[in-house]
Amino acid sequence: MTSFKERVFSGVQPTGNLHLGNYLGAIRRFVALQDDHDCIYCVVDLHAITLWQEPAELEKATREVTAAFLAAGIDAEKHIVFNQSRVAQHAELAWIFNCVARMGWLNRMTQFKEKAGKDRENASVGLFAYPTLMAADILAYRATHVPVGDDQKQHLELTRDIAQKFNNDFSERIAELGLGVEMMVGEEKVNGFFPLTEPLIEGPAPRVMSLRDGTKKMSKSDPSDLSRINLTDDADTIAKKVRKAKTDPQPLPSELEGLEGRPEAENLVTIFAALAETSRAAVISDFGGRQFSEFKPALAELAVEKLAPIAAEMRRISADHAYVDGVLRAGGERAAAEAEQTLAMARKIIGLLGN
Ligand code: TYM
Repeated sequence: MTSFKERVFSGVQPTGNLHLGNYLGAIRRFVALQDDHDCIYCVVDLHAITLWQEPAELEKATREVTAAFLAAGIDAEKHIVFNQSRVAQHAELAWIFNCVARMGWLNRMTQFKEKAGKDRENASVGLFAYPTLMAADILAYRATHVPVGDDQKQHLELTRDIAQKFNNDFSERIAELGLGVEMMVGEEKVNGFFPLTEPLIEGPAPRVMSLRDGTKKMSKSDPSDLSRINLTDDADTIAKKVRKAKTDPQPLPSELEGLEGRPEAENLVTIFAALAETSRAAVISDFGGRQFSEFKPALAELAVEKLAPIAAEMRRISADHAYVDGVLRAGGERAAAEAEQTLAMARKIIGLLGN
């Protein structure tokens, strides 16, 4: 009996602008993981359409996210980069998971409640079923590790619940076909067809907050563009947004504990530390006791230094449609071959004739 091969999967939606939260919480970590893991990174266009998207904008955003992956340093030859809709197995497995997941589980998803707002009756069915497609993305490759920001935690717990229910519902059949793989769940050794995927919610900035309100996460959907630094912002825009970032009237504390109860100060220090690839304690030891009027220009300079080269590379790559589309096509073919292996076995387990 073998155990699951370690494999990393993650996805980013092609909706609106990519921002510093996407970069520090996800994309930069995708790059770091590729040195010692087998990685699959996906532009999740089928997730994007759970809310209506202007078609030409969706195409543009899909190329832009792909360009951001490549500009940040993801190696699309060694690893797999593709857009979700090219690999029909995602939608097929999502349907199967719609029949495994329970209404009650999806009813608890906070992201649906936030996105649907008050008018739930008018939300798309796709928005409600969003997390089962996410589980399918991950489990079509039987991925073992998923790097994401903190806001995706609940969806990953649901992914584990779906895998576990599938493994239980079909345990006899899985054993009969010899398709079980051994894994550890806590102290217990169990057998299943789908792994119980580990979320990787770590790094210095799993939750980057809004520049206008340190208690809200930085988000593509915030109506104020001043709330976020977009990866494509130019140096002047970045400087302006940092200058206008909300702060309190106190200088920076001289101890880390002094950030408690000061969400805006804490966020700016966290962003500085993450961009500089140092600790928050080191930032406090450099800037403790100083005013924001001194700290903000240093932060703006650092952000420009780190982001401008990526933005320039992103613009260059995303303008070359033939190149980007070629990367997605080649990645899609490789991904489909992998996903089909899983689906062929899953169909057999369930009793769907067709292999
Ligand atoms: P999306 O497109 O909203 O965000 C992409 C990634 O960026 C992270 N992120 C943040 N991290 C830190 N601070 C923030 N303020 C911040 N905002 C966003 C997100 O956590 C995410 O890692 N449902 C997913 C896409 C998805 C997916 C998947 C992810 C679809 N299938 C399978 C992993 C595995 C989403 O909407 O991410």
